[in-house]
Amino acid sequence: MSLRGTSWGLLFLSCVGIGHAQVGSRGFFGTTDEITGEATVDQAARDLLTSNLTTVFFPIIYIFTLAVGLPTNAMAIWVFLFRTKKKHPAAIYMANLALADLLFVIWLPLKIAYHLNGNNWTYGEAMCKVLVGFFYGNMYCSVLFITCLSVQRYWVVAHPLSQQRRNNRLSIVVSVAVWAFVCVSTTPLYLYDQTVKLQDPNVTSCHDVNWIHNVKEPFQDVKHPYYYFMTMAGLVCFLPSVVIIAAYVLLLRALSHSVEDSSSGKKRRKVVVLIIIVLITFLVCFIPSNIMLVIHYALLSFGAANRAYGFYITTLCLSSLNSCLDPIIYYYVSEEFREHVKNTLLCRSNRTVERMRISFNSLTYSKKTNTYTSSRTETSTC
Ligand SMILES: *[C@@H]1O[C@H](CO)[C@@H](O)[C@H](O)[C@H]1NC(C)=O
Ligand SMILES: *[C@@H]1O[C@H](CO)[C@@H](O)[C@H](O)[C@H]1NC(C)=O
Repeated sequence: MSLRGTSWGLLFLSCVGIGHAQVGSRGFFGTTDEITGEATVDQAARDLLTSNLTTVFFPIIYIFTLAVGLPTNAMAIWVFLFRTKKKHPAAIYMANLALADLLFVIWLPLKIAYHLNGNNWTYGEAMCKVLVGFFYGNMYCSVLFITCLSVQRYWVVAHPLSQQRRNNRLSIVVSVAVWAFVCVSTTPLYLYDQTVKLQDPNVTSCHDVNWIHNVKEPFQDVKHPYYYFMTMAGLVCFLPSVVIIAAYVLLLRALSHSVEDSSSGKKRRKVVVLIIIVLITFLVCFIPSNIMLVIHYALLSFGAANRAYGFYITTLCLSSLNSCLDPIIYYYVSEEFREHVKNTLLCRSNRTVERMRISFNSLTYSKKTNTYTSSRTETSTC
């Protein structure tokens, strides 16, 4: 607990450092225009909403996420559900992780269109809420399933003889609990309006601008998101981070105590790669965005200008990259997924090649066909 206290202290210090509480000055929020009743933003916000950062760089990141995340996660689900003969807890967690990523990336085309349109949301409040809900739902699901997977990795090494069937049942129960928790905990995001109609630039923003109705009391308008993101950052980012670090320390210790043989070196290398990927995912996707969410809403609630607003929305954008990083985790953990990726990349789907050979040879089908369709060297050319 003292660790969490320290991190909140650090957070507070960085708030003060970035923000300079200028109470009353206009920060990154919309204030009500008396004549039109629409929201107006200050020059810094206007510049950012029309900048290359939001209208060029963000779409590029999201297009990349969509192009990489959609096929790889879809393939992962297919492999874990239909191509993994012996279901094991790791495959169950990774299938759930892939499903969470898939549920997020299918909405990305709307987000890409929004940013390409000059941050103009034209799909209505309901769709914006869905996008925001699935964005954070994916983030929290990913953190929790990566945590489950990390603990499970440690468990496999520490208790190699534990019962498979019982572990599978446990991992299904845990997965259902994670989904239930994330569904319930993201409902607050659907309860308040995410779109704000701005006057200049003439756009409707989705989740990017907070409307402060009374400049003298900004806390009234942002206190709910402030408490919400603060709680979620603690519960679904920092706490799992501590669990993951503990799991990996124990895992590495257990591995170094295990008997030295030819396979243990390879096992250790795979574990180290997994740890590095999870570390990168947290350092790029989860930690910065959760810290900046807390800082952003803390500054808003003081009515202070957020000089780091550009950095804040960039961290949120970069957090979508977790959908591309997760498949690397599947690659290093699952033998089946690795085989399928290799086959796809070398464009030698064994089944297709087999089918083609069978159809080529169907006229002159002989016993000999059987031998070479199943042989790897024969099917390795494409
Ligand atoms: C914004 O659009 C409205 C109509 O939708 C128009 O009346 C207004 O002049 C526009 N404002 C600017 C600054 O372009
Ligand atoms: C944003 O979309 C609205 C509604 O389609 C449209 O009236 C407005 O002109 C658009 N703004 C810009 C800057 O394209």
